[in-house]
Amino acid sequence: MDASDLRGRTILVTGANAGIGYWCVEQLAARGARVLLGCRSTERAQVAVDAVRAHVPDADLRVLPLDLGSLDSIARAAAAVDEKLDAVICNAGVKAANRDARTSDGLDLMMGTNFLGHFALLARLDAALTPDARVVAVGSLAHRFARLDPAQITAPWRGSSLRQYGRSKAALMAFAFELDRRWSSSSRSAVIAHPGYAVDPLTPDREGVLEVPRATRAFAAVTRGLVQGKDGGALPIVHAATAAEVTGGDYWGPGGWLEFRGAPVRVTASDAVRDPALGGALWAAAEVATGIA
Ligand SMILES: NC(=O)c1ccc[n+]([C@@H]2O[C@H](COP(=O)([O-])OP(=O)(O)OC[C@H]3O[C@@H](n4cnc5c(N)ncnc54)[C@H](OP(=O)(O)O)[C@@H]3O)[C@@H](O)[C@H]2O)c1
Repeated sequence: MDASDLRGRTILVTGANAGIGYWCVEQLAARGARVLLGCRSTERAQVAVDAVRAHVPDADLRVLPLDLGSLDSIARAAAAVDEKLDAVICNAGVKAANRDARTSDGLDLMMGTNFLGHFALLARLDAALTPDARVVAVGSLAHRFARLDPAQITAPWRGSSLRQYGRSKAALMAFAFELDRRWSSSSRSAVIAHPGYAVDPLTPDREGVLEVPRATRAFAAVTRGLVQGKDGGALPIVHAATAAEVTGGDYWGPGGWLEFRGAPVRVTASDAVRDPALGGALWAAAEVATGIA
């Protein structure tokens, strides 16, 4: 692959200051893309920018203040995008242990941030997307642990927080499949990618972004055959955003055992998240929840 093959392309990554989002930025910038870092803390975003530039000195980066847990912040961020976007990577995500955790708009924190925040962001960014723009939704293996009921997306959740996290990721994935169906008569596409099982202790250090104690890293090394670092987790997502072989409605993930680690391959999502009836009902429920039609 040519190290400058993405020159001239502009890509927004949400949740870009840490974890997989950070690595998406570094990998895209290394290939010449201009990258917008959509982050809720401009300080943490600037630390990430400095870390990327330490490894990719000519990285073309811009910080876009964006809190996906606030519909006002999302509207302000979209209004501040005054350039065309070739791709948007919907990566930001939270896991909340607490059932009472809410976004600024009073939505459940996980559903509100992981799904509805990205739903609102993409609606607001429509005019900024190029005619052949690609949206990548970052899904999760956890989508399989959860039954998604569009009528309940703003209801208090039941069961474990992992189940609600799975519902929020299933919702983002079902939305992306639906978006791709709605774009079928255009050149735009929506795809889904998941990072497998990606952990910090197997991830290279980046100053100020991630610094793992040597003992933790040594202890975690025994898991290297099973899981991967967040740099590896970014690979299917960057592939989904940039590779010519990717087509709308695809789902990409790591090709190794249980899809936990490995090089990107096409994988299969649950029947539920690919169901057009569920996608349509979810879209309608998201319009009501966000007030954005
Ligand atoms: N790691 C895995 O094995 C795994 C597996 C499946 C799916 N995923 C998905 O991959 C994505 C990234 O995961 P990760 O492991 O890299 O997580 P992470 O290290 O916790 O990073 C999450 C990122 O999202 C940002 N974020 C959280 N809430 C936000 C908000 N309201 N507005 C803007 N940004 C926000 C965080 O910013 P702050 O620094 O401000 O908190 C951070 O930059 C998530 O969508 C996750 O569901 C991860």
